[in-house]
Amino acid sequence: MASVTSLSASLQQRVSAALAAAVPSADGADPLLRRSDRADFQANGVLGLAKRAKANPRELAAAVLAELPADGPEGLIGEIEVSGPGFLNISVTDRAITGNLALRAADDRLGVPFAEHPGITVIDYAQPNVAKEMHVGHLRSSVIGDAIVRILRFNGEKVIPRHHIGDWGTQFGMLVQYLMEHPAELESTPRAADSAEAGEASMSRLDRLYKSARTLFDSDEEFKDRSRKRLVQLQAGDEETLRIWQWLVDESLIYFHSVYDKLDIEIEDENVVGESGYNDMLVETSDLLEKSGVAVRSDGALCVFFDDIKGKDGEPVPLIVRKSDGGFGYPATDLSAVRDRTQNLHATTLLYVVDARQALHFRMVFETARRAGWLTDDVAVKHIPFGTVLGKDGKPFKTRAGESVKLEDLLDEAVERATAVVREKDVKGELTDAEIAERGAEVGIGAVKYADLSTSLGRDYVFDLDRMVSLNGDTSVYIQYSYARIRSIFRRAGDAKPVPHPELPLAPAERALGLLLDEFAETLDSTVETYEPHKLAAYLFAVASAFATFYEQCPVLKAESPAEVENRLFLCDLTARTLRQGLTLLGIHTPERL
Ligand code: ARG
Repeated sequence: MASVTSLSASLQQRVSAALAAAVPSADGADPLLRRSDRADFQANGVLGLAKRAKANPRELAAAVLAELPADGPEGLIGEIEVSGPGFLNISVTDRAITGNLALRAADDRLGVPFAEHPGITVIDYAQPNVAKEMHVGHLRSSVIGDAIVRILRFNGEKVIPRHHIGDWGTQFGMLVQYLMEHPAELESTPRAADSAEAGEASMSRLDRLYKSARTLFDSDEEFKDRSRKRLVQLQAGDEETLRIWQWLVDESLIYFHSVYDKLDIEIEDENVVGESGYNDMLVETSDLLEKSGVAVRSDGALCVFFDDIKGKDGEPVPLIVRKSDGGFGYPATDLSAVRDRTQNLHATTLLYVVDARQALHFRMVFETARRAGWLTDDVAVKHIPFGTVLGKDGKPFKTRAGESVKLEDLLDEAVERATAVVREKDVKGELTDAEIAERGAEVGIGAVKYADLSTSLGRDYVFDLDRMVSLNGDTSVYIQYSYARIRSIFRRAGDAKPVPHPELPLAPAERALGLLLDEFAETLDSTVETYEPHKLAAYLFAVASAFATFYEQCPVLKAESPAEVENRLFLCDLTARTLRQGLTLLGIHTPERL
């Protein structure tokens, strides 16, 4: 495993050194090197420097150029010139491109370095609610969270997932009481070999239960009263009450796992630490806040106030740590979770992949934790928001009957459509039914994940299956096809092997593809820095598009010389490996044939 310095990073060093030599006061200045349409790269940093030094930018650029002549065909810099008001246009040599790619290809991490100082990230994602159907919002949290976990782990970070499921709160008094009065309902769903079947059975059981309990609760005052008392028993840790509550949680987990299986996302039970997991800390959390004066009594409740957080009426909106009836809610649980994650799990970074609509809640929780000293400057904390999933009409996604759409129905439909696409593509009938079904699932689930991951964080997106499984456009299917196409080239290649030939001149489409492939590590780096998987998604789409142009313009197996065939196969191979690694990090499969 050897990390590889990208061409742009090497150039960056060279240009910085030349800047410092030409203008000694510019030592350490950023040359602002960017990819460019006019040359491979453009350095714009001279402009700002000239402005500060009150110098003529073109003259200054010429002075830098004098320190940085082209290297000739054996070196890095092929051509360099001053352009426009004082830019430097720089092109690298073909030899440097192929040579650098050869170094990447020789490394099983494609030259991507590990983080220099890995930390411990606790990431809160995939947090559905017990005894309730999962909805599309839970899909987004799971898909984005899973991709971030994969990307961070690849980077060398220690990652601890926390699935903060909604398994505590007033409705559990009602549910447990109902079950105690109707013990026949307490029959567990057997864990079937087919997880989808078991999941469906447990969800319909829970759904029936929820509805019956609710009806009784709304119509029968005495039952309501017994439910309230049951809630107190639950919070006090009464054994029998807890046993039945646990049954509800276990039954829900069967259902959650079935959906995650379908989504091809791995969730480990030891990381499922729901709201109930912090129950023992709540009193202490609120006492600590009260004693330190961070929280104060207001109308009987224990509250934290913020100068800059006010409601529409101008009145301050507090974070309620403890309600006036002595009960605890969502904020107290999250505050306790911060303590647990920083003090017991020793997190250096806390991430929360949660609906953008909870932004204010997290702002208040983080600020409170800071005031209490549970979050220090040594710990980075970030809410990673996602927007709402919309229907084609631009309104929050609903069924025709106006109900929120069941996650599983969506996934099933995506797989169905993708299977049709795979079957249609298989004109020669080479695939067996089982293969078509397997690929249909890989393509369909991949398409749903990709549509989500290619959307910038916090933005709403339209759930449009037709677009998602399309072969054209910015879809995972398009990227998966590029991968499969390359695999098929190799099946036809006979004895020809991928071998880099740095001595060969490159066609424009080869250069464009090569320069992109060299950017993989940098793309991952910026994806990690901002926790934005869409940067990786956009990169993979760009690689697949550059490959399409290359494939159109540069014959591979019919290239002019055996060396050129080998060099193009080499580019194909590195493209396939980059696409495969990239999609894997997004949680998406790359079938060998499509
Ligand atoms: N269960 C919550 C919901 O469905 C999400 C939990 C988010 N995580 C947290 N630590 N508050 O909206």
